[in-house]
Parts: sequence; structure tokens; C-alpha cells
Amino acid sequence: MSRGRILLIGAYGQFGRRIAEALARDDVDLMLAGRDVGKAESLATQLRPQARAPVSPVQIDVEGDDLDARIAALMPDTVIHTAGPFQQRDYRVAEAAIAAGAHYIDLADGREFVAGIGRLDAQAKARGVRVVSGASSVPGLSAAVVDAHRSRFATLESIDTCIGPGNRTERGLATTRAILGYVGRPFPALIDGDRRPVHGWQSLRRMRIEGVGARWFARCDVPDLDVLPARYPGLRHCDFRAGLELRRMHFGLWLASWCVRAGLVRNLPRYAEPLLRLSEHWTDAGSDIGVMTVDLGGVDPDGQHLHLRWSIVAREGSGPHIPATATVVLARRWRQTPPSPGAGPCIDLFTLDDYLQALSHLPIETSTQALVSR
Ligand SMILES: NC(=O)c1ccc[n+]([C@@H]2O[C@H](COP(=O)([O-])OP(=O)(O)OC[C@H]3O[C@@H](n4cnc5c(N)ncnc54)[C@H](OP(=O)(O)O)[C@@H]3O)[C@@H](O)[C@H]2O)c1
Repeated sequence: MSRGRILLIGAYGQFGRRIAEALARDDVDLMLAGRDVGKAESLATQLRPQARAPVSPVQIDVEGDDLDARIAALMPDTVIHTAGPFQQRDYRVAEAAIAAGAHYIDLADGREFVAGIGRLDAQAKARGVRVVSGASSVPGLSAAVVDAHRSRFATLESIDTCIGPGNRTERGLATTRAILGYVGRPFPALIDGDRRPVHGWQSLRRMRIEGVGARWFARCDVPDLDVLPARYPGLRHCDFRAGLELRRMHFGLWLASWCVRAGLVRNLPRYAEPLLRLSEHWTDAGSDIGVMTVDLGGVDPDGQHLHLRWSIVAREGSGPHIPATATVVLARRWRQTPPSPGAGPCIDLFTLDDYLQALSHLPIETSTQALVSR
């Protein structure tokens, strides 16, 4: 197998850094990119002692005019893009990767961004490359979880996903901006048989998770709300919530959602940096335990109602490895077996077992329970 060449954009961000650490253990030339080459160099210096192949820093601005030429000159075989928020991005990185003859993977959680990536399908096929969007917790992992349990249902009617990071894990600016962008804003969701508007960071729900305790969650606008109903047409309900472990932060954001809804705050993402700094004052509180649950409801092959809850619990601050792992699984797989060309959301590209295998060195456990009612 020849050595790979991977360009990782957003390499020293929260998730980029974890992807870089994993890929540095592989036989790939790893190019670490962001706007600040000094930060890229300092990460490269940390990784080189364990790296199997060269690790080099690269300065790239995904909004720069010379993006196509910069990417082409680096001759990557795969481009990984973590430099969100994707809600405000177009497909220029993916298009530059295609033009350079490189496969492309991103971590996008922008709903329209992920759902619309198929518009690059013809371009990707013409160049013989694969373009994948949403290679992360949603829809990458969530869809793999649904697929792994799908055969237990004759009819799958509902999917409810919740994600709650532990408070003692670091948070990224791009993720914070992405969430603040929909707090208090309306978006459509398939709720109890109707596609209707719901609001970001509202519709609070408290859930007790085995081995973790009670956490609060609130609605988020994520790609799954389009990708999963399109993939499982029998669904009557598809919902997604996230939660902050500290109640002062969770309910503070809930209050902010009402201020946005009432028109008192017009541009919440503008406050992302001060809010992130404020949250960093409280990193000694709470736990280092992150959780994700996927609840599946429907009818089993015997005609009985069935409600399953799949959970993943990440301890010792290992939670951020979960969203970072989809790109690692794909990049490794594609080095062994080149993917079929085309463009689409991150579904059908790996199994749940593939994903969990890549996380098996970490203090992360999963379980599936049958619950009595939804
Ligand atoms: N789909 C999912 O399930 C899922 C889950 C978690 C996170 N995400 C998404 O993953 C993304 C990354 O999150 P994060 O928390 O890792 O963010 P982060 O810590 O803020 O990292 C973002 C990285 O991108 C770089 N960057 C920003 N603007 C850039 C530009 N114009 N050109 C080149 N590089 C740029 C930043 O460095 P410089 O600013 O120095 O350039 C930084 O290295 C977010 O968009 C988040 O929403 C998705």
C-alpha cells in the first residue's frame, strides 16, 4: 500500500486535533492546516515523535481566493475539512478537493449543507473521487446506530437522538457558533406525524441515563432531521436534542433562546467568544462524562410495540473522540479500498462495529436496552 497524503483543515481545533493524533499513527503524510501556521507547527511538533510519516504545517484560509491553487499544489489524496461553522459555508473546499482529484470528508453539522452535498455528485464522479459530508456524530454515527438495530423492527416509526458532552471537556469556537446560530430560531422537524416548526434550544427534556444520572436536553437543528426521514420513509417522528451538563449553562441558553425568539437578541453567534470564555470559568464543575443516546421506536416482527435505547458513555474526557472518529474510519478504509466515486451525506459508509472498533482503546462503553414505552 502506498503512503497516503492527507490535508487536514482545522487541524488544531478541538476535533481536528483528535483526528490529527489518530492519523499521525498511520502511514500517511499529514498536512496540518489552518489560518495560523504557528499553531499548526506547534501541533506538528507535538505529533512528530509518535508519527510514522512526515507531519507538516500548512497555512490555508478556506475563504481565501487562492484556495483551489493551494489545495492542488499540496497534491493530497484526501482532504478533511473541520473548519466550521458549516452553516455559513459553501462547497468551495469540496470543489477544490474534487478539482485536485482528492477525496473529501467534512464534519459538517449544518443541515442544509449536509443534505445538499449531493449536488456535487456528478462533479465527483467525473473526477473519480468520493465526497462525504457529516462524517461525525450526526449523521455518521447516528445513522450507523439506526442501521445496526433496524432489523429488530418490522416498522421503524421514531428516532430520538440526544447528545450531552461532559462539562469538563474542552469546547470549540466553531461548534459554539454553530449552536448559537439556531438557538431561539424556528426550523422544521417531523414531530408525531407532522412536519412542523420547532425552536432551537427549546422543548426541554430531562432524561436519566444509566450509569450517568439525569441530564437536561433541548432541541437542535441538525442534518439528521432531513437525512434520516429521507432514508427511512416510514418514520413519523425524528427529533434531536443536545444538553449542557451544568444547569446554569443549559438553562441560561434556554433563556437566551426566548430572548432571540422575542426579538431582544438579534445575533447570538456574535457572543460566541465571550460565552465560551464564561463557560471556561466553570470547567472544574460537573463531570468528564459525555453521553449520546439514540431511541428507536416502532413495531417488531411479532406486531408488538418496541422501544430500544442505544447509549454510548465516554469517560475521562474521551467524549470528543466520538465525533472525530468518523473521518478516521473513512480515511483508513479508503487507503485499503478506494471508495466508489460520488457525493452524499455520511451514511452507508461504515458499520457501527467499525466505528466502535476505532474507539476501542478509549474508556467508552455502549449498551442497548429495550424500554417499556416511548
Ligand atoms: N456533525 C457533527 O456531529 C459534529 C459534531 C461536532 C462538531 N461538528 C462541527 O465540527 C466543526 C469543528 O468544531 P471544533 O469544535 O473542532 O471547532 P474549533 O475548535 O473552533 O476548530 C475550528 C478549526 O478551524 C480553523 N478555521 C476556522 N476558520 C478557518 C478558515 N477560514 N480557514 C481555515 N481554517 C479555519 C480554526 O483555526 P483558525 O481559526 O486559526 O484558522 C480551527 O483550527 C464545527 O463546525 C462543528 O459544528 C460537527
